[in-house]
Amino acid sequence: MYIPEKHVAQNIVSDYGTPVFVTSAEVVRVNAHKLIDAFTLNDTKIFYALKANYDPQLVRIIKESGVYGIDAVAPHEVRLALEMGYTPQQIIFTPSNASDEEMRYVNEQGILQNLGSLSELTRFGKLFPGSKVLLRICPEIGAGETHKVTTGHIESKFGIARNDLEKVYNIAKKYKLLIVGIHSHIGSGFYDPQDFTNSARAVCAVAAEFPDVEFVDLGGGFGVVYRPGENDIDLSTFAQACHSPLEELEKKLGKKIELRIEPGKFLVTNTTVLLTTITTIKSKGDKKFVGVDSGFYHLIRPAMYDAYHHIVNISRPDESQEEVNVVGNVCETCDVFNGNVKLAAPQEGDILAILSAGAYGSSMSSNYNLRTLAPHVLVDGANITLTRRRQTYEQIMENFT
Ligand code: LLP
Repeated sequence: MYIPEKHVAQNIVSDYGTPVFVTSAEVVRVNAHKLIDAFTLNDTKIFYALKANYDPQLVRIIKESGVYGIDAVAPHEVRLALEMGYTPQQIIFTPSNASDEEMRYVNEQGILQNLGSLSELTRFGKLFPGSKVLLRICPEIGAGETHKVTTGHIESKFGIARNDLEKVYNIAKKYKLLIVGIHSHIGSGFYDPQDFTNSARAVCAVAAEFPDVEFVDLGGGFGVVYRPGENDIDLSTFAQACHSPLEELEKKLGKKIELRIEPGKFLVTNTTVLLTTITTIKSKGDKKFVGVDSGFYHLIRPAMYDAYHHIVNISRPDESQEEVNVVGNVCETCDVFNGNVKLAAPQEGDILAILSAGAYGSSMSSNYNLRTLAPHVLVDGANITLTRRRQTYEQIMENFT
């Protein structure tokens, strides 16, 4: 987990203030190489799930590290990927409830669409008969950090049920659609390779029914570490987990099948901290509250998913520790960054680093309470670059009439 050195953090804070997201380019590169080195089977192609963090400078590092493409879920994500020089072949579009307008835009760009409902497939077929398409199925295997980010179970809104495959067949036949790949994403943040094997089995079993299939896409979701001292998952066991289902599929279809994956969290979570300043310390009952100058509008994961984010006191790292509640500045009870963390002798004015904030931190931020979006700073060796300026009040208000 990246923690900037004290003097680096202090320089960034004096130049750009807090709250500020600070990312290590080096950690991004390490993560990318871990994935590339572990996933060598079946010419694996890695598509970065852009929703995790769309800072173009960070995406550029991911691209330069050799990660193949982008998994985009919305038209503007497609647009950014194209503007960053990805070819249409390097982009997959995985929408939820796509409108005809969205499908038209993406089709005009020549990008493969990954559709997870009979409605989308039918409308796509009517609009673009004879096209290639990717099918998102429901593997009936769900796994993830919490129920709220688990996607592969039968009750979730995602994917086409396996007992609807006959209907898929008929739609594809009617509109001459070529189903070139089968996709599943079981959830975000799973740690057991068995879940990945089960997902691969389910996907490969469906793929075996579609002779035009060229690849299978097993989505993202590789678990990451949020607590110091915990070990990273062994990615090679996840790669091995899909070996035998793929081998069987190749035998059945009598051809080479490519593997695709779409990690978001694994590439960026541990690369970034959110630096905040303690503004207010108070005790009430037997609790000590450490109030900072940020809130869930910058990092919603603890409030939304009860996610654990470790916090360290950058200003006094070596002092004795006490257990505190680090809370944000929103008038909502759930605005707690960490209700149970040991901090070194916190004082008002200290800088805290909220760790592992690189995925679904800034990208899920909002303007709640008219708070402005936080700047991004990239640390690359000795180079420290502001990659996003702090938003202003005027920028928030400019579209109101
Ligand atoms: N592919 C698809 C189709 C997805 O829906 C997602 C994430 C990914 C790939 C990337 O999953 P990852 O490797 O990042 O786990 N906001 C939540 C996570 C939501 C993930 C949504 N889909 C969180 O902060 O935990």
